[in-house]
Order: sequence, then C-alpha cells, then structure tokens
Amino acid sequence: MQEPFVLLSGTANEALARSIARNLGVDIAACEIRRFPDGEVSIELGEPVRGHEVFLVQPTAPPVDPNLVELLALADACRRAAATRVTAIIPYFGYARADKRLTRREPVTARMVADLLQAVGIEHVVTVDLHTDQIEGFFHVPVDALTAVPTLCNALEDRLPDDVVVVAPDAGRVRMATRYARQLHAPVVVLHKERKSGTETAVAHIVGDVHSRACLIIDDMISTGETIGQTIEALIGAGAREEMWVSATHGLLLDGSREKLASTAIREIVVTDTIAPRHTSWPGLHVVSVAPLFAGALKRIHTDGSFNELDRSARDDTRDR
Ligand code: R5P
Repeated sequence: MQEPFVLLSGTANEALARSIARNLGVDIAACEIRRFPDGEVSIELGEPVRGHEVFLVQPTAPPVDPNLVELLALADACRRAAATRVTAIIPYFGYARADKRLTRREPVTARMVADLLQAVGIEHVVTVDLHTDQIEGFFHVPVDALTAVPTLCNALEDRLPDDVVVVAPDAGRVRMATRYARQLHAPVVVLHKERKSGTETAVAHIVGDVHSRACLIIDDMISTGETIGQTIEALIGAGAREEMWVSATHGLLLDGSREKLASTAIREIVVTDTIAPRHTSWPGLHVVSVAPLFAGALKRIHTDGSFNELDRSARDDTRDR
C-alpha cells in the first residue's frame, strides 16, 4: 500500500495551502514556525515525516528573502527527519526575473536560488507560469512548470466583448498571449518595449491593430503596475477603445501599484492566489484560485500519474525551434 503523503505549509500563503489541502481532502501537518527576535527563523515539525513523501507549499513572494530561507529550512528539517522525498510547491518563484546578466558584474540569482533549493534536498519542484521557461533548466531535479492560463481564461471568457484583442506587453509574453488567444479565440497584439535604463522601459511600437478594439492585457506578474500602466497609455494612444481587462498569474501588487492601475479604462483585473492577496478592498480586482491545479499536480506526483490532462488546453503545439 502507498504511504500517505505529508502536506506542510510555510507562512507565505497559508490560505492557498489550506485550499490545496481541502481540494485533496487532507489536513496540513502540524509545524511550528517562529521568528527569533533578530529575525532568524525557527522551525519544528509537529509530526513525524520519516518514510513519507513531503510536499511543502511556500511561494517566495515578498518578503522574498525571509520566505526563501523559510522554505530552505523547512526542506532541511524534512530531509533530516528522513522524509523519502521532498517536493517544493513554489506558486510564485521569486528572483525569476534575475535569470540572466544584463551587465558583466551581476549575479544570476534565479540560478543561485535553484542551487540552494537542491542543496537542501528538494528533489522535485512544482511552480506556475515561470517568468521564463529556461529557469527549468537551472535545476537538475524534475520541475513541473504549470500554467494558470486556462484557469484565468475560464474566469474571463464570459466577461470579455467579442472584439477583444489579447495584448502581450512585451516580446517575452508572446507565448503566454498566444495561449490566451487560443482559448479565447482572439487575435494577439504585441508591444515592443525598449529599455531606457536598468529600471526604465518605454513602449517603442505596437505590432497589430488595436484601433477601436477592446483589449485584454496579459502578463506573468503585476509588481509595481508600471508595465500595465504604460501599456494602457500606449494602447489608448494607438486608438484602442478605453475598455480594457488585465490578467496576470502573480498579483504582487506592491504599494503604489493601485495608483498606477487607476485608469478608468480598466474594467477588471484578474490575478490568481499564488501570492497571498494584500488588498482586501479593491473594486474590480478578482482573485481566482490555482489550488485545484496544484492539488491535481500533487496527486499525480505522489502516484506517478501523467500530467498530460492537467493543463493540456494551455500547452503549445508549436515549438520555438
Ligand atoms: C517583465 O518582464 C515582467 O514580465 C512583468 O511585465 C514585470 O515584471 C511587471 O512588473 P511591473 O508591474 O513592476 O511593471
């Protein structure tokens, strides 16, 4: 008989972990996570994990470094307590944007994080809508990189007008936009951004026709809101109808983002719960859950089942090369 698995949660998004547990009909295992007065993390597993497969749920969302160290410490505790395999469910993978060097004197921090996760004995990673697909290649253990695009499209499809175009705010999001477009039966428009400095970008031109069209702007994450704000301005400048929807997997929605997303053109913003929502009253902001997606992944990993059906509608039939 297969040993039952143990589901553990860090403190970064306990609501999502509870939701995953509900989807699976299990409880989250007891674990005490505290902070010493100097900020160091203290962890004590509340039940044995010896001989069990363990799943840890912890997005490395802000505060990124404390949440990352908490995940590393949880994994270390499980491995030292003789868990058979530790799988990290990382709904939001912090540092994903640091996947390359822009200048010669920078770290590739996403790679460093991958090394750290593996160094503490994490043998499998599950995540959703990674900033770039190649981050998977930073790991030598299996990475199940899921996509929330079908979940987001299901939430959006009845709300969008027939003439909507799916807008990729930069060339890096074309593939994701194509996934949306395929499910929503809409054309894709791409904005070409030019980098002005390490932190500043400007829209150089728009590839595709937006004249008098409603727009669905998609992205992997909304952090400061700058990208979406600029995209809206550029679309309106190009004659798009002031009727826009915004959809992103990771709603970081940092302080100040609400002001940047105050455009009256925005009808609704839809994000998932990969990151614990920070805003309780934001009219027009909808949060859809990726708990069923992660629950499905967890079940398949535990039983060595196939992932084929899990997010099939979002998988590409095309290859870049
Ligand atoms: C950029 O490459 C990303 O895909 C997002 O567009 C960006 O990180 C969003 O950040 P912000 O909301 O601060 O513009």
